[in-house]
Amino acid sequence: MKNIIEVKNLFYKYEANAQEYTLKDVSFHVKQGEWLSIIGHNGSGKSTTVRLIDGLLEAESGNIIISGEELTHENIWEKRHQIGMVFQNPDNQFVGATVEDDVAFGLENQGIPLEEMRQRVQEALELVGMADFKTREPARLSGGQKQRVAIAGVVALRPQIIILDEATSMLDSEGRLELIRIVKEIKDQHGMTVISITHDLDEVALSDRVIVMKKGEVESSSSPAELFMRKDLGQLGLDEPFTTDLADRLRQEGFDIPLCYFTEEELEEKLWELLSNK
Ligand SMILES: Nc1ncnc2c1ncn2[C@@H]1O[C@H](COP(=O)(O)OP(=O)(O)OP(=O)(O)O)[C@@H](O)[C@H]1O
Ligand SMILES: [Mg+2]
Repeated sequence: MKNIIEVKNLFYKYEANAQEYTLKDVSFHVKQGEWLSIIGHNGSGKSTTVRLIDGLLEAESGNIIISGEELTHENIWEKRHQIGMVFQNPDNQFVGATVEDDVAFGLENQGIPLEEMRQRVQEALELVGMADFKTREPARLSGGQKQRVAIAGVVALRPQIIILDEATSMLDSEGRLELIRIVKEIKDQHGMTVISITHDLDEVALSDRVIVMKKGEVESSSSPAELFMRKDLGQLGLDEPFTTDLADRLRQEGFDIPLCYFTEEELEEKLWELLSNK
C-alpha cells in the first residue's frame, strides 16, 4: 500500500522565542486506506501535529507530503480539500443556522447540485443518528450531539482523508464506539484514510496502527495488539485494557493463558476452552 501522508522531521513551536519545541523531529507515515490512532498525554503535541498536516499551522522545518506532493503555500487549499477534519471543541466549528444547513455548508462550497446535496445531508445525518434534529440550532445541542453533527459534516464531503481530533470525547462509551464503527464502515466503503486522536481503548483496538506521542516526539508506532501488551500503558495516556488486566490475574491463578492481547470475545472463548478441558 502506498503512503497517502508522509510526515518528515517536523519541528514546530508556537512562540518564536520559546525555549523548547512543541514538536521535535516528528516523522511518521499513513498508508492509503489505513486507520491510524494517535495517543499520548495531554500536551504531547497530537493536535499540533494534525493542525500542521491540515495546513492550519506551518512547521519551522520538515516536510509534509500528501498524496505524493509536498504541502506548500501554493497547494494548501487543494490539499485541504482532500482532508476532512473534526476538531476537539465542537463549538468552534459550526457555521450554519440549523443542523442541516451546517452539514450542507461544505457541500455548497464544493458546488454539489442541490438534489444530491439534500440526499447527502440526509444520509449523513441518518448515519450519525441526528436526522430528527436537522432543523435545530447547532448551538443548542449537547456536546455529544454537536460532535455527531460535526462528523456528519465531514462524512457528507467524502474526503480522501478524515482527521478526528478527540471527535467523540463527549459521548458515552457506547455512543462513542457506535459512531466510530459507523465512520469505519464509511471509510471502508469509500476507501478513505483515517487519522484519529483518541484516549479511547476500544477505538485504538479497532485501528490498524497506533502512534504514541510523548513530549512532542513520536515515542512509538505499533499494532494495537503490540501496544496493549506494554506494561507501561497507564503512562501513555491510555488505560490498561480490561482483558489484559483480567488475563494477568488469571495467569497468577494458574490459568494457562498465552501472553498476548485478547479482545473480550477472544478471552471469553479462551476461558470456555480451558474450562471445558478441565
Ligand atoms: N495556541 C497555542 N499557543 C501556545 N501554545 C500552545 C497552543 N496550543 C497548544 N499549545 C501548547 O503546545 C503543546 C502541545 O499542545 P497540543 O494541543 O498539540 O497537545 P495535545 O497532545 O493535543 O493535548 P490534548 O490531549 O490536551 O489535546 C502544549 O504544551 C500546549 O500547551
Ligand atoms: Mg489535542
